[in-house]
Amino acid sequence: MTANSAAAHGPSAGGRVQDKVAFITGASGGIGSATAVRLAEEGAHIVATDIAARREALEALRGRLPEHARLLALEADVTDQASLDAAVEAAVAEFGRIDIVHANAGILLPEGNAEDIGEQTWDRVIDIDLTGVWRTAKAAFPALKRNERGSSVILASSTAGIRAAAGGSAYAAAKHALRGLASTWAHELGPYGGRVNTVHPTAVATDLVLNPESLKRARPDLEDPQPADVVEAWKRGKLLDTPWIEPLDVANAVLFLASDEARFITGANLVIDAGSTVKWG
Ligand SMILES: NC(=O)c1ccc[n+]([C@@H]2O[C@H](COP(=O)([O-])OP(=O)(O)OC[C@H]3O[C@@H](n4cnc5c(N)ncnc54)[C@H](O)[C@@H]3O)[C@@H](O)[C@H]2O)c1
Repeated sequence: MTANSAAAHGPSAGGRVQDKVAFITGASGGIGSATAVRLAEEGAHIVATDIAARREALEALRGRLPEHARLLALEADVTDQASLDAAVEAAVAEFGRIDIVHANAGILLPEGNAEDIGEQTWDRVIDIDLTGVWRTAKAAFPALKRNERGSSVILASSTAGIRAAAGGSAYAAAKHALRGLASTWAHELGPYGGRVNTVHPTAVATDLVLNPESLKRARPDLEDPQPADVVEAWKRGKLLDTPWIEPLDVANAVLFLASDEARFITGANLVIDAGSTVKWG
């Protein structure tokens, strides 16, 4: 290939997920948008979905993708099966198939001890973080099974899916359950060349954890705690010298699992946690 023909194909002509179609839930910010950018940089076409309230942020994703990338930005709420079904249908109509699913949408609510959790809180966390992942699978799996090139599904768990999450029973229950779903679904998709794995990040620098409420829970002694106020405590939880990781660290792990480099990895649980689970394991 000459330099000119390489240029004609764009910078990702030989990308690690070249021409694969990636369907991502909760893609407007945080880890979801970082994954969309990273996969697009490596040649994927992106179907980015999120709730209606995040429409503007979802559209802004366009400006972060490489110029040559194709993006389909769609509203889909993981508590609403019909919206996910419609998004999958639109994705297949646009691109002809789906190769990668990143079931990333999730929430983290203040919970407290078991006896203090309100039933609404419990139901909301389970509805989005667990049932929402199943709804995503329910919408996408028929298309994945039709995909003769095989497929890769990555479920967004957490270190809270490996060990305890003090004060977060519903979150821990949902994130632990995703390991069960991944290994079960690895059976279901295996005969169709599909792989299903989980990722388990420690605290990531996104709105999910670096928000005033979470910081206040971590530092109740301070009036208005800032991220800098939790650095020392959060570093102590890890073997490597960092209080949290970046969305890009998770996106790179998702990229690997999505790519053919991981072609024989299925039913695996990839921990991205600077050593926190082995430190407290
Ligand atoms: N940030 C962390 O420290 C961390 C650590 C481990 C695991 N995770 C997991 O990673 C995933 C992404 O988290 P993040 O840190 O990027 O959080 P985030 O809050 O930045 O992004 C979550 C996204 O999910 C979307 N979402 C929420 N409810 C939805 C619904 N009903 N339907 C569709 N989309 C919905 C939000 O709009 C948002 O875009 C979550 O599943 C989270 O549990 C995050």
